[in-house]
Amino acid sequence: PKRVRIRHFQAAKAAGERITALTSYDAMTAAVFDEAGIDVLLVGDSAATTVLGETSTLPVTVDELIPMARSVARGVSRALVVADLPFGSYERGPEQALDTAVRFMKEAGVQAVKLEGGVRSHATIKRIVEAGIPVMAHIGYTPQSEHGLGGHVVQGRGDSAERVRADARAVQDAGAFSVVLEMVPAVLAAEITRELAIPTIGIGAGAECDGQILVWTDAMGLGTGRVPRFVRKYADLRTTLLDAASAYRDEVKSGAFPSAAESFEDQTS
Ligand code: KIV
Ligand code: NA
Repeated sequence: PKRVRIRHFQAAKAAGERITALTSYDAMTAAVFDEAGIDVLLVGDSAATTVLGETSTLPVTVDELIPMARSVARGVSRALVVADLPFGSYERGPEQALDTAVRFMKEAGVQAVKLEGGVRSHATIKRIVEAGIPVMAHIGYTPQSEHGLGGHVVQGRGDSAERVRADARAVQDAGAFSVVLEMVPAVLAAEITRELAIPTIGIGAGAECDGQILVWTDAMGLGTGRVPRFVRKYADLRTTLLDAASAYRDEVKSGAFPSAAESFEDQTS
């Protein structure tokens, strides 16, 4: 299959074709999602919670994310692989951000990076894009600023809509090839989607975005905690794995596994 490239994003928006995205953190799931035709695989800093067992995205480091991003990049033949710049790896300014983005491109082999912030990240996005690295922006609710935003809350309701709109314009102006809209009212996301030339990828942002993204472990039921209301559960993998591991345990305990067919004879015949 032909590789997804950033020019396909503009073409998809023009054609009214929805863009599909999921997170992925390893080669095994990347290969499955790629085969399913998912357009974008994001090595999100959500790995902090999903893979590393943290309670927020803040602790994950570049050194921890790069091996995951490299695994995902190796696992796909079609999907565009995007790596999140983790908290602390780009806020000092455009030069720090570019250094981090370059590490993901060189050491992980991804095709683009994502970072949080609209107006405040304008110069940073511009610097990275000028270096030839595609940038996916991320506005609305931005998990890395959870504490500054006062918790996990919808952004852009009422008077604050104008701020989210300004963020959307800023990232497009800076050269981002697409923008994630997280937890903004559906009507606002629809307006921003119509206003922008670049595609919007929604998560908790209603049906009118140009594409959708979900954290794969949430969407497929592998998480332990409660999932946000914008997640639809497409599988119950936790139950599937729990049943399989329990059956394996029982059969080892009882001696039912392995059978003769699963063992070797002394002589080959
Ligand atoms: O880290 C992540 O998984 C994300 C998506 C939810 C957009 O940033
Ligand atoms: Na993220």
